[in-house]
Amino acid sequence: MKILVTGGTGYIGSHTVVELSHAGYDVLIADNYSNSKPEALNRTRQLCPGSVEFEYCDLRDKYATDSLFKKGDIDAVIHFAGLKAVGESVTIPLKYYENNLFSSINLLNSMAKFGVGKMVFSSSATVYGNPHALPIVEDFPVQTTNPYGATKLIIENIMKDVQAADKSFSFSLLRYFNPIGAHPSGLIGEDPNGIPNNLFPYVAKVAGGKLPHVNVYGNDYSTEDGTGVRDYIHVVDLAKGHLFALDQLFEESGIFTYNLGTGRGYSVLEVISAFEKACGHEIPYKIAPRRGGDIDACYADTSLAFEKLGWKAELDIEDMCRDGWNFQVLNPNGYPDA
Ligand code: WQD
Repeated sequence: MKILVTGGTGYIGSHTVVELSHAGYDVLIADNYSNSKPEALNRTRQLCPGSVEFEYCDLRDKYATDSLFKKGDIDAVIHFAGLKAVGESVTIPLKYYENNLFSSINLLNSMAKFGVGKMVFSSSATVYGNPHALPIVEDFPVQTTNPYGATKLIIENIMKDVQAADKSFSFSLLRYFNPIGAHPSGLIGEDPNGIPNNLFPYVAKVAGGKLPHVNVYGNDYSTEDGTGVRDYIHVVDLAKGHLFALDQLFEESGIFTYNLGTGRGYSVLEVISAFEKACGHEIPYKIAPRRGGDIDACYADTSLAFEKLGWKAELDIEDMCRDGWNFQVLNPNGYPDA
């Protein structure tokens, strides 16, 4: 069977392509390299035993999106493609709404046109906003606090309405917590453009001597050590979760929503300390003012994914830091340009 993976050269997409290939699926990647490089495709293919085709495609082009389905050999879709930087989405909201919504609507139209009904969608725990309680359960109220999260919630709602109107569609909405780490081979990992916005890749760059110190955004949150707490999940565990979600779509019809996290929160200082153990040296940091929009703590109730899919995260923070540090050592400047 063949799976269309949009955004398949990106961080989570590439790791998912590897797991799909090892599970025996053929893969067609559609990507426009807006947040990745051709080298990511080369490396991903090195880790894949099966066929990994690639089509350069901007999903905002509906003719190009249609052409992905023309051969009639796509059995399901995993949709990663989209802009995903929270801070950037606040400064250029129209670009985020236009890109993420037009791409997803074009994709759904093409799926309908060519009779492809199954899609796993890359959503985000950001849709919960500042949760009223912890751990977060899938039926908690959703309340986005930035345009990026708003696009994810709007696309979730579009998919709910489409599936309600046409039962030939089945969707799985996966709400990621904080994906970090890298494939144990060190061939693929997180390769953010420029200075990382997210904590983990920033810590890795400091550990690798590429940045002077970590700025800890606030130590006056209502958490044990005062720094922000998040549910960090190894990107390989997250990738595997997509295969479990896909399996369910081949067995059951409907629309399903799952938290993909570990159920365990770690503070910023705990992540730094865990990374110091992995890299074997101290990682300098400074306490800085809070970052606008950040919440105190966020971690998942993961029981639904285990009960319905049989999936749970198996790797811990030590594994995440070991693999993240290995990727940093092997790729001190990220992926080389084409
Ligand atoms: C984690 C913690 C920061 C950087 C975002 C998106 C989410 C998902 C993952 C897409 C917070 C602190 C961070 C730094 C710091 N992306 N921090 N210094 O904001 O939880 O989630 O990325 O789906 O949608 O919202 O991740 O890694 O940016 O921050 O102290 O240099 O680290 O305050 O407590 P976040 P993050």
